[in-house]
Amino acid sequence: MNYFVVIPAAGKGKRMRADRNKLLLELEGKPVIIHTLAVFEADPSCEGIVLSIHPDERFEFEQLLLTYNIQKVYAFATGGKERQHSVYSGLKMLPPEIDIVLVHDGARPFITPETIARLTKSASSTGAAIAAVQVKDTIKQVEGDTVSQTVDRSNLWSVQTPQAFQTAVLVSAQQKAEEEQFLGTDESSLVERTGHPVQIVESDYDNIKLTTPEDLYFARAIIAKRNESQV
Ligand code: CTP
Ligand code: MG
Repeated sequence: MNYFVVIPAAGKGKRMRADRNKLLLELEGKPVIIHTLAVFEADPSCEGIVLSIHPDERFEFEQLLLTYNIQKVYAFATGGKERQHSVYSGLKMLPPEIDIVLVHDGARPFITPETIARLTKSASSTGAAIAAVQVKDTIKQVEGDTVSQTVDRSNLWSVQTPQAFQTAVLVSAQQKAEEEQFLGTDESSLVERTGHPVQIVESDYDNIKLTTPEDLYFARAIIAKRNESQV
């Protein structure tokens, strides 16, 4: 199932506490964003990438695409104040008549083509599908510093990206959110409030988002594991 992907990459990476956008930090010899882009570059079902960036970083991103021979970036979009704005800006740059669009965080370099394929298949039949993993920890609800209850985790999932949609489903959810000034932390939350059902596609625990400095250690471990399994 062919698709386009919108990649929000316009954040500041504040929680990473680096002096720059965390997506430009090097991870085992390549910037984080290149690890992410390379997955889509290599996936024959990916028809094109819209990269949503801060305009001040455009030159740097353009140089990286040349250096690493990433050819599928169809357009740059101007990132906004919040992630949701960056994604919406990216959606507006899609070519016409794209049936399936994925949204994928630039900060998740370990997405696999297998998960992408299951997401696009589900989205094309249902309209909306998101990558997620079952919660592993016991989750407690807390009032102040006292536990009020233990939440049943059997139906709790940690949600990741990619999130895949029939383009019309996501565009109308974004429009509704904008009109009603609703700000969500993912695309699914916008689609959910339109009443459209969203399917879960089970992903894997490697598909982490690089958020805080220790995530870089986990990332190196994941790369080492993958390199080992290739030999
Ligand atoms: N993002 C974006 N536009 C924003 C905020 C975030 O395009 N205004 C992107 C980030 O570049 C990242 C993805 O959305 O690829 C997920 O966001 P997050 O992990 O929160 O990254 P940052 O916002 O950069 O980090 P922080 O919240 O720690 O500042
Ligand atoms: Mg953020």
